Amino acid sequence: MNISPAPIQRRNSAQSHVLRRSLTAEQPSIVGGEGAYLIDADGNRYLDACGGAAVSSLGHDNAAVRKAICAQVNTMAYAHTGLFTNPWAEELSDFLVARAPEGTGEGRVMYLGSGSEAMEAALKLARQYHVERGDTGRAHIIARAPSYHGNTLGALAVSGHAGRRAPFAPLLIDVEHIDATYGYRLRHADESEEDFGQRMAQQLEDRVQALGPETVCAFVAEPVVGASLGTQPAPAGYWRRIREICDTHGIVLIADEVMCGMGRTGSLFALEQEGVAADITTMAKGLGAGYQPIAAVMAAQRICDGILAGSGKLWNGHTYMSHAVATAGAMAVMREIEDRDLLANVRARGAELERALRERLGDHPHVGDIRGRGLFWTTEFVADRETKAPFAPERNIAGAVQQAAMAAGMICYPAQGCADGTAGDHALLAPCFTSTSEEIATIVETLAGALDSAIR
Ligand SMILES: Cc1ncc(COP(=O)(O)O)c(C=O)c1O
Repeated sequence: MNISPAPIQRRNSAQSHVLRRSLTAEQPSIVGGEGAYLIDADGNRYLDACGGAAVSSLGHDNAAVRKAICAQVNTMAYAHTGLFTNPWAEELSDFLVARAPEGTGEGRVMYLGSGSEAMEAALKLARQYHVERGDTGRAHIIARAPSYHGNTLGALAVSGHAGRRAPFAPLLIDVEHIDATYGYRLRHADESEEDFGQRMAQQLEDRVQALGPETVCAFVAEPVVGASLGTQPAPAGYWRRIREICDTHGIVLIADEVMCGMGRTGSLFALEQEGVAADITTMAKGLGAGYQPIAAVMAAQRICDGILAGSGKLWNGHTYMSHAVATAGAMAVMREIEDRDLLANVRARGAELERALRERLGDHPHVGDIRGRGLFWTTEFVADRETKAPFAPERNIAGAVQQAAMAAGMICYPAQGCADGTAGDHALLAPCFTSTSEEIATIVETLAGALDSAIR
């Protein structure tokens, strides 16, 4: 029996039966991976500077993870979680809870297939927690904009991304949005970082008061905002104040670490660096590092206690929860990160990446801001540095940068909409945790060249 797919070269989407993201674009077919490189059917090599969407943190040919996945497929692939648990889901949960930010307590973790599913499950878990305790009036969810929490209807409703929401708006539940901490455009010239953080956090307090504190179910935010705003960390003190507000009013704090978690910012959990713990934390991309589709929802002890004192049951189940092959793969990813001390490399290469970006692009006439943390960095492009005016969205400068970078053999992650929902271009970088100094230098040089050719 032939188990290899027929080799295809570049195939135009119009000739394809795959319902691709673009129904018209021509796309190379990827057939291999080597370290930080992806290889297409024509033999072209692409330096993956963004891990797809901050997914491939271990590069594309990690032997230990491949071995763990194959071993589990050969042992036992699937058993339904209504009746059974499995050793990998148990071990992975022990691992994550033991390393969760202080204040999480004895938490528990559920596993799903995507970040969107994890966000849906997190929202339902927050609601379940209140209902179990008889606090049934809590239904409002407050999130931030810009933000992105996923494409399923609940996760999209929470997302503060005007462009992605627009066509589906009539299907979305009502969610309140406050501003994300977009320092480049929202911080006043004479304002300290701390004052900016307090002012932004006050938006949550004000919105809670306007809605009625007893009606608010959860506050949702990304500790370091991913693609919608471009690797935006929060100002010092912001998260502590957010935690205080949630505690004061009994609001569940949901940290969406789907993109920024699992080592991407230099610590396993992004919130660790803010000195607070969320009540519910979602993780996805770096958890499986692309070797298996897997996402997770971690409930802190307080949430589990609420459920244990009530029904003792999770009111949200999925067929593929705690999948044995996916959890085996994710456990191997976590072991690689820890045993090889890869977070030290994230911090060291991250510092090099920041330095090189600032040196090479800091004075560029069309670079407005460079922001990020760990190996998670963004360059925001502007038409005018003085006024911070974004490029006209129709020019799609971010897309043009991506195309130019790809032509030069590198992949970066473009996005639009950070400035006002539709305008505002940036390119996000999320190199693998095993990156070398040479690769970091190549990434910055290629990005600079791509920006110049995109603008030309
Ligand atoms: C912060 C964040 N949350 C949720 C999601 C949704 O994840 P998925 O695309 O796996 O459904 C994403 C995806 O980019 C994300 O960046």
